Amino acid sequence: MVKGLSGLKRTKYCGEVSKEDIGKKITLMGWAAKYRDLGGVLFVDLRDRTGIVQVVFNETCDSEVFKNAEKIRSEYVIGIEGEVRERSKETVNKNIKTGEIEVIVSNLVIYSKSETPPFYIEEDIDTNEQVRLKYRYLDLRRPDMQKNIILRHKACKIARDYFDKQGFLEIETPMLQKSTPEGARDYLVPSRVHQGSFYALPQSPQLYKQLLMLSGYDRYFQIARCFRDEDLRADRQPEFTQIDLEMSFVECEDVMTVNEGMLKEMFSKTLGIEIETPFLRMPYSEAMERFGSDKPDTRFGLELIQMSDVVENCGFKVFADVVKNGGSVRAINVKGASDKLSRRDLDSLTDFVKIYRAKGLAWFVVNEGEIKSPVTKFLTEEETKAILDRAGAEIGDVVLFVADKDEVVFQALGALRLELGKRLDLIDKSKFNFLWVTEFPLFEYSEEEKRYVAKHHPFTAPMDEDLELLETAPEKARAKAYDVILNGCELGGGSIRIYDSELQEKMFKALGFTHEQAWSRFGFLLEAFKYGVPPHGGMAYGLDRLIMLLTGSESIRDVMAFPKVQNASELMSNAPDVVDPKQLIELGISIVKID
Ligand code: AMO
Ligand code: AMP
Repeated sequence: MVKGLSGLKRTKYCGEVSKEDIGKKITLMGWAAKYRDLGGVLFVDLRDRTGIVQVVFNETCDSEVFKNAEKIRSEYVIGIEGEVRERSKETVNKNIKTGEIEVIVSNLVIYSKSETPPFYIEEDIDTNEQVRLKYRYLDLRRPDMQKNIILRHKACKIARDYFDKQGFLEIETPMLQKSTPEGARDYLVPSRVHQGSFYALPQSPQLYKQLLMLSGYDRYFQIARCFRDEDLRADRQPEFTQIDLEMSFVECEDVMTVNEGMLKEMFSKTLGIEIETPFLRMPYSEAMERFGSDKPDTRFGLELIQMSDVVENCGFKVFADVVKNGGSVRAINVKGASDKLSRRDLDSLTDFVKIYRAKGLAWFVVNEGEIKSPVTKFLTEEETKAILDRAGAEIGDVVLFVADKDEVVFQALGALRLELGKRLDLIDKSKFNFLWVTEFPLFEYSEEEKRYVAKHHPFTAPMDEDLELLETAPEKARAKAYDVILNGCELGGGSIRIYDSELQEKMFKALGFTHEQAWSRFGFLLEAFKYGVPPHGGMAYGLDRLIMLLTGSESIRDVMAFPKVQNASELMSNAPDVVDPKQLIELGISIVKID
């Protein structure tokens, strides 16, 4: 058994050994990534988080050391002392930073052995993600994961430094909070002292950060852990991190400008990319009309085309009826795609839009001298021509239509647009297209609750020009809310808040809460708001999403050290798990199984 470090003291990281060290004695520690035994000479690639360096055991080695070195296997943890030497020209490895040198070993300590790992500890492995997550500690040892995690650290530091420079204070808010409904489902934590009562883990620090404004802290930020019990996706985890901020005495533009500065610095310092500010501002209604999405990916075209007025009296009943019933017909013209989209492709795209509740996908394939379509038979020549004119269709184009309620049309065509962008390889991956989507609706109708719910949250201020609509036509009222979008991903969002109690009452009324209900849910905030509230607003980024985009990862799981899988469990530790009945008794909890 080796004791401690066995007298060695590391003097360098593996990836940092360079030509400047030639002739120097150094001590390195790390994992044996690869070893080659050429009989009389042994090469080991030694790896730590900075990279790999080749260490060599040869005839200059003490025989005991050499014998010991022969025992080294992949992922053994070793320490070596040795001298840095220039490699001969033929053995230079241009693929690694340290490829021009090697270390001739004089002393070796094997600190620990390793079983054969279930997958290779190297970049770009083709291993099932479940296996990677079960052995996450090994997965995290791989250089591409280490790059992501290190970049995440840097990004947090850049954000902290930036907000500090801008006069923001980092203040922690509680993890154990009161459950305040509205939003996603809470994670609850039972109280032992107050049996039958529960804390909620924060979905965001929203209410506390508003209270900090009331307390006069003026500018707050926090890199805050948030918890939401919702369905997981590639860009959603039950436990995630926000870069959260709030500012006093501001309007939308002030918040957006400070945050453009942050993103500019972030991209410059991590990727060396100078992004242009200010970003484009696009009202929500325009984003929906043009892209069918409130988070448009503007790296490619395929914008939506309004067809309702052209088809409202046409012979194809599906189109005409939808318009008469208050819905819409919209189209996408896929330029020059007639030889790229086969009949089978069109059928599969029809199935695709059905996922988004569209009832079908009508299409026109515009060929020289003929138009192939399942619907032209219902249309006169003039009607067909008017449709093609509106679509700007030329020979070789394929025009795709969905007719339905606006909501379904936007969802289906918005998703279809992205799908076509991917399938037809229309997306320029080198672009970073930022924009702000602004003027969101204040409310959205919840079919489930049969009432309006706040689209952002109930403290978001209406736009000044829409204040009257709160009582007359709430569905038309727009909010002082904004989302920052990068390449079709919602990086973050926020709003200017209501600071006037009369307006807040009106807001609750529009949300269908009585005075008493509002007070029982948000009483502490309403009470606080009696004592001098500065006009304020803020926003929060999904840090994980930001890092996903900075690293070009496919999923936020690849930028989190220990993420959860689809069913919200953690494969390595097997959380969540049953607990000792004694723990439940202390909490006064008994489990009732509901099938
Ligand atoms: P919102 O709910 O829009 O706003 O969240 C802000 C940002 O957090 C990220 N995000 C997530 N990331 C990973 N997994 C999730 N489950 C998840 N949910 C949200 C998104 C999103 O844009 N308190 C307000 C902000 C404010 O008004 O200041 C809030 O939380 O990137
Ligand atoms: P049908 O008359 O139902 O056979 O439909 C003719 C064509 O119209 C098919 O290609 C359908 O996919 C398409 N279609 C049907 N309903 C809709 C709709 N609501 N929106 C767009 N296309 C539709």
